[in-house]
Amino acid sequence: MRENEEQATGDRERSAAMTMWSGGRFEEGPAESLWRFTVDTSDRRMLVDDIVGSIAHATMLGRVGLLTPGETAGMLGGLEALKREAEEGSFSFLHTDEDVHSAVERRLGEVLGDLAGKLHTGRSRNDQVALDLRLYLKRSITDRISQIAGFIRVLIDQADAVGDTTVPSYTHLQQAQAVPLAHHLLAYAWMLKRDIERFADARVRTDVSPLGAGASGGSSLPLDAEMSTEILGMGAVFDNSMDAVGSRDFAAEFVWCSTQTMLHLSRLSEELILWATSEFAWVTFSDAFTTGSSAMPQKKNADIAELVRGKAATTIGDLSAIASLQKGLPMTYNRDLQEDKRIVFHADDTLAGSLDALGGMLGSAQFHTPAPSDWVTALDLAEALVLRGVPFREAHHVVGRLVADLLANDRTFSDLTPEELVDFDGRFVPADVEVVDPVVSVQARVTHGGGSMTSVAAQIDALDDFLAGYTTA
Ligand code: ARG
Repeated sequence: MRENEEQATGDRERSAAMTMWSGGRFEEGPAESLWRFTVDTSDRRMLVDDIVGSIAHATMLGRVGLLTPGETAGMLGGLEALKREAEEGSFSFLHTDEDVHSAVERRLGEVLGDLAGKLHTGRSRNDQVALDLRLYLKRSITDRISQIAGFIRVLIDQADAVGDTTVPSYTHLQQAQAVPLAHHLLAYAWMLKRDIERFADARVRTDVSPLGAGASGGSSLPLDAEMSTEILGMGAVFDNSMDAVGSRDFAAEFVWCSTQTMLHLSRLSEELILWATSEFAWVTFSDAFTTGSSAMPQKKNADIAELVRGKAATTIGDLSAIASLQKGLPMTYNRDLQEDKRIVFHADDTLAGSLDALGGMLGSAQFHTPAPSDWVTALDLAEALVLRGVPFREAHHVVGRLVADLLANDRTFSDLTPEELVDFDGRFVPADVEVVDPVVSVQARVTHGGGSMTSVAAQIDALDDFLAGYTTA
């Protein structure tokens, strides 16, 4: 009942309201269904960006003489007051605000009176909304980069903590070669480093001011877009007003960067889930980062990792949505583009939450991996023959036969005596039995970026250097 009353009041206010476009050719107020369908309140999170954009615009209008010094001072005073309200959380929106831009202009009118009507001089919501989203994303990219850097730090710390613990690497989810667990963990650090680089690169194309493009074709007024860009502290000014208001590839790029990062987190999640099973039993997470079962008291579930894996699917949906939104869209601005914000915000929130929760869970991990089976040294044994001049294909064949022989007798490499090995093939030497220890296998690894402790140390140094350039969360 109360809700209905509020709704009715809202409707009355709405029909009495002046939209940014009412009062001219429109004789009737908007229909209730139009209002409900077209108003999207999600853009309210760009409130500060909208005001910052308006401050730059008003400053430029003053400098080029479209506002008098007195008007400029008044306008900037009003906008600064609104910015304070926005930052303190006391800025209130009304049912009658069509979007964040209308809300700012309405509130400025309450503060300044008629002068507020001059703010939209030489501007359209089309260049305004493109600017707001670019400013919002610039901040988000900076925040996400710092969060990813923090996540890489967690991986490095864990790589440090596990020391020279040896595990099998896997290909086809079958045990492949012996590697330091640290090497496996650091593989994710490199993936995430590239995610940071991708975001940083996307930031350059995001940091372009569309202000001054107007509705689509520019203006007869002496606006100075370069001046607005400079006031905003943005990296570049648009080159084509139609492109400036009609393009959203910068938003799509943000969603792509977020999705790729989510995909990396999702792969890591899948492994953490697998490693936490009693079958693997490689890792335990602290109680604070795991959940219990309502039915089975013995269970400790890696729900955070499962949710990250699940949420990665939803960002793939965002990527598909932001791509589809652009397909077939005629130039320039079309209202379809209002949908870009929900997509971008969803991808942003999903990535931010996932980095935070999964980073916490990973930080709480205690690794206790079992020793790998000695089958992971088969390649090392073949390489021992290669070093003695045996062609690799033949060495592969010899070791393959040895594996088959041992398996048939329910034995493994480490059951072999030096004599048995030399008897099996005269090109082996007695000392080759030492090669079949996974720890020795790792110690013998000499190649660049390979699974050795020398390589792990070099990787940590390089990652440390990289992170020094970024704020870690
Ligand atoms: N709310 C709109 C959006 O998010 C703002 C731009 C509206 N422009 C217009 N010409 N109706 O895209």
